[in-house]
Amino acid sequence: MRTVDLIQKKRDGFELSTEEIKWLVEGYTDGSVPDYQMAAFAMAVYFRGMTMRETRDLTMSMVASGEQIDLSAISGIKTDKHSTGGVGDKVTLILAPLVASFGVPVAKMSGRGLGHTGGTLDKLESVKGYQIERTQEEFIKQVQDIGLSVIGQSDNMVKADKLLYALRDVTATVDIIPLIASSVMSKKIAAGADSILLDVTVGDGAFMKTLEDAEKLSETMVALGNEVGRKTVAVITNMSQPVGRAIGNRLEVLEAIEIMKGQGREDVTHFICELAQIMLQLAGQEKSLDDIRDALVNGKALQKFEEMIIAQGGDLVDLHRPSSAAFVTEVKAEADGYITALPALEFGLFAMRLGAGRAVKTDSLDYETGIVFDKKVGDSVKTGEKIATIYTNEILSDKMLTEFQKNVKIGNERVESQEILKIIS
Ligand code: URA
Repeated sequence: MRTVDLIQKKRDGFELSTEEIKWLVEGYTDGSVPDYQMAAFAMAVYFRGMTMRETRDLTMSMVASGEQIDLSAISGIKTDKHSTGGVGDKVTLILAPLVASFGVPVAKMSGRGLGHTGGTLDKLESVKGYQIERTQEEFIKQVQDIGLSVIGQSDNMVKADKLLYALRDVTATVDIIPLIASSVMSKKIAAGADSILLDVTVGDGAFMKTLEDAEKLSETMVALGNEVGRKTVAVITNMSQPVGRAIGNRLEVLEAIEIMKGQGREDVTHFICELAQIMLQLAGQEKSLDDIRDALVNGKALQKFEEMIIAQGGDLVDLHRPSSAAFVTEVKAEADGYITALPALEFGLFAMRLGAGRAVKTDSLDYETGIVFDKKVGDSVKTGEKIATIYTNEILSDKMLTEFQKNVKIGNERVESQEILKIIS
């Protein structure tokens, strides 16, 4: 086989065989297919797409490109969860311990943030001492012992995706459904859980900009999971404004704790209870939203979270300390009315510039900086009322403050904001 023939075949709109896809992925992983040819192939896929069969073959070839985790030593139905990326998305920090507090084992591998999106690992690492690297044995033992672990993905897993994702990132080939679906699902399948909840974000802060595309991506990923015997459900969620109140690593951990003490915003608290209900259902437990909320606000989820922090070397005193950012700037409403939009992308990029996110993979983070909103879409405001607080380690310039204000949209009509837009199972 020759790579150039496979690129040409895809470029001209033909379907690749299982053997051809396997050959290409193996060659790319072992270095015999160079980046420039794989980049051309990714671009051909971008324009021509892939059939479901091709997408499945690509996914399974990527799974086979590295180590696969065997969780069979853990009893019960192991659950996992994945978000396709968002701003202020601290859902895993709450959902994973909440589900684990019902005795359902949660064995989760998370990622880092890039660009305007945050990553769960970075948030956890804002807690002094927290270790995201664990051997497979340690990971399994911790889930056996306390029912919960959130770690980073091992370097040996899904090697093809590591290479291909980095290549897609610099060749404008990230936002195409078969490549996103195979990238996400290869990692989830290799990570070994029996059931998977996919949080597919849609809106200006997400890869999927329209509900229609989010539906297509969800259907593809759900089919991929179910075909290989992993019970998979996708929830399409709104990423047109940040999730909850905080953006920024330390600030999001604090918001997660606030929610687990029953002191969070009602919208995000309800949203997380709904996600937990689906994850528990996937693991065979039927629970009412009231039961789930009880576990959340009565401290069971927080206790589980603290157990995980301790088990992974984190410092409990540090976990609860406030942000140490040197400067705190309050943002006040410039008009009466309702918040009509808080564009997630703009605020994600803003927080990134404060040091809360990475523009490129090698950037280091400032865990303490970010934004905490007092008002979200649909809330009423009065002129001069506090809308948000910005945490920085350098004085915030007037230019930045003006930019922030410009992105807070205030109008006369109240708009409803909904978290879950659709469930695909
Ligand atoms: N998240 C992933 O893991 N892969 C993609 O391609 C996009 C989002």
